[in-house]
Amino acid sequence: MTLRMALDANKRITAVYPGSFDPVTNGHLDLIERGAIIFDRVVVAVTHNLEKDPLFGIQERIEMLEAVTNEWKNVAVEMFDGLLVDYARAKGARVIMRGIRAVSDYEYELQMAMMNRKIEPQIETVFMLPGEPYSYLSSRLVKELARLGGPVKGLVPPLVEERLRAKVS
Ligand code: PNS
Repeated sequence: MTLRMALDANKRITAVYPGSFDPVTNGHLDLIERGAIIFDRVVVAVTHNLEKDPLFGIQERIEMLEAVTNEWKNVAVEMFDGLLVDYARAKGARVIMRGIRAVSDYEYELQMAMMNRKIEPQIETVFMLPGEPYSYLSSRLVKELARLGGPVKGLVPPLVEERLRAKVS
């Protein structure tokens, strides 16, 4: 990349924020908001993680994400299949956005970022930190709490809280 390209003030940067979002939490939303401030456009990209057995179907996850990101005009929600870098390239994205909560996230995220860079060196992974109140929050824990009748208020948007309650009842 030339310095001239880097300094091009007219360059518009699209970031893809990929994940399972099963379901979207307030931690994800915190990150989406931070991304929407920094980047010109954020595409929240929902996919199947082959390692995970989802509670919500992909359409349900997308619907919830669309409803709770509605206020940010430069945020879109889409589904993707296959390799993330292929999808990001097709979207014209320069950035893959991922959240890192604790050191324990880092190893997995580093592996993915380096592998993605090896496949597509033009796309940069940007790690972002969620706000402190969300540093211990995960979709997995939220689902476990909901299944066991624990409180999820404040951890997920009210709409997701409702859907979770209906799903596990
Ligand atoms: O929210 P998650 O489940 O931690 O997100 C993981 C995700 C979906 C980002 C990752 O599994 C992924 O990128 N899947 C797409 C397939 C792919 O590109 N795999 C190679 C990654 S190096």
